[in-house]
Amino acid sequence: MVKEVLRVGVIGCGAIGKEHIERLINVVAQATVVAVYDYFEEVAQSVATKYQIEACESGEALIARDDVDAVLITSTDDTHAVYVFEALKHEKYIFCEKPLALTAQECQEMMAKEIQIGKRLIQVGFNRRFDIGYREMKQAIRAGEIGEPLLIHSAHRNISQAPGFKTDYAITRVAIHEIDITRWLLDEEYDEVQVLTVKQSRKTTGDWLNPQLVMFKTQSGQRIDVEVQTDGAYAYDIQCQVVGENGTLNLPDPARVLKRTAGQYTYGLTDHWAKRFIDSYDTEFKEWAASVLSDKLVGPSAWDGYVSCVVADRLIQSRKSGNVEKIELVEKAEIY
Ligand SMILES: NC(=O)c1ccc[n+]([C@@H]2O[C@H](COP(=O)([O-])OP(=O)(O)OC[C@H]3O[C@@H](n4cnc5c(N)ncnc54)[C@H](O)[C@@H]3O)[C@@H](O)[C@H]2O)c1
Repeated sequence: MVKEVLRVGVIGCGAIGKEHIERLINVVAQATVVAVYDYFEEVAQSVATKYQIEACESGEALIARDDVDAVLITSTDDTHAVYVFEALKHEKYIFCEKPLALTAQECQEMMAKEIQIGKRLIQVGFNRRFDIGYREMKQAIRAGEIGEPLLIHSAHRNISQAPGFKTDYAITRVAIHEIDITRWLLDEEYDEVQVLTVKQSRKTTGDWLNPQLVMFKTQSGQRIDVEVQTDGAYAYDIQCQVVGENGTLNLPDPARVLKRTAGQYTYGLTDHWAKRFIDSYDTEFKEWAASVLSDKLVGPSAWDGYVSCVVADRLIQSRKSGNVEKIELVEKAEIY
């Protein structure tokens, strides 16, 4: 693709869709947005009017446009697969927010299509891989600075959820980030996974289980525990500590001013993922645009989307069965 600026069509103009549209138009020099679509016409129209771009009558019409080089899918989880398959039909580059699909079977079909086309077209929105803190942790692990990593302790704490939140979403929408980032940090696949229920928070505003303790064991025997609080936490707070033979690595908090005032020493925490990870999203899209323009995707792949679906499915099964569940993956194709 010999172009200087990637022309993107965006499907889904909700919370993160609007953030990414603004980012692609005003932050990422190598990309722009030419067209948008949303299930709610007035939502797409208001975004289109704001940026003087076009609102399309359907996702399919947007994907088919000659001036759309790549498609960004930021609609609701249950709609991702249908648009990914449509964009694959047109052999267009795709950035799909997580999850790639609702089922591992659909992800396998997407991989089969990429293999048939002969190259990667799909990138999945696992933005933490672009966060400077996680990147430094991975570099330190690779450089052997803490010796062999043995364990990871992590926490994903949220203040609130939108109406309609369910117990399973703690895995498929929340812990899915930890499913991806810890296997990326350790460069390992999981062997077994488990969910443990713990004493429940009285601050949960709905009828879902909160918190849940999510556990992974990698193929070499490393253990990862993830405390998943989906409601009522004191802040949006993400913690990760890798324990190695020779030391530990801790995920840094984003830079904030340290205040000494009123007899206290304080450091502000954020209340929302969009603020906590803003730099990672910017980097994610700068690198995505550059890699698409050079016709060589390098970010999180359909394979990563597939693995996260398999693991999420087994975790949900573990919560229901009370058992440790085995992870079984299909063979990884060479293009991944
Ligand atoms: N990577 C991350 O950190 C991150 C953060 C937030 C959300 N997400 C993902 O992004 C996606 C969107 O999340 P959100 O918070 O913006 O949700 P949202 O509900 O605010 O927005 C979703 C939008 O999709 C539209 N939509 C629904 N069905 C559609 C269809 N069939 N075709 C086109 N548009 C349709 C809705 O009208 C809405 O405007 C979700 O899949 C979510 O998991 C990822």
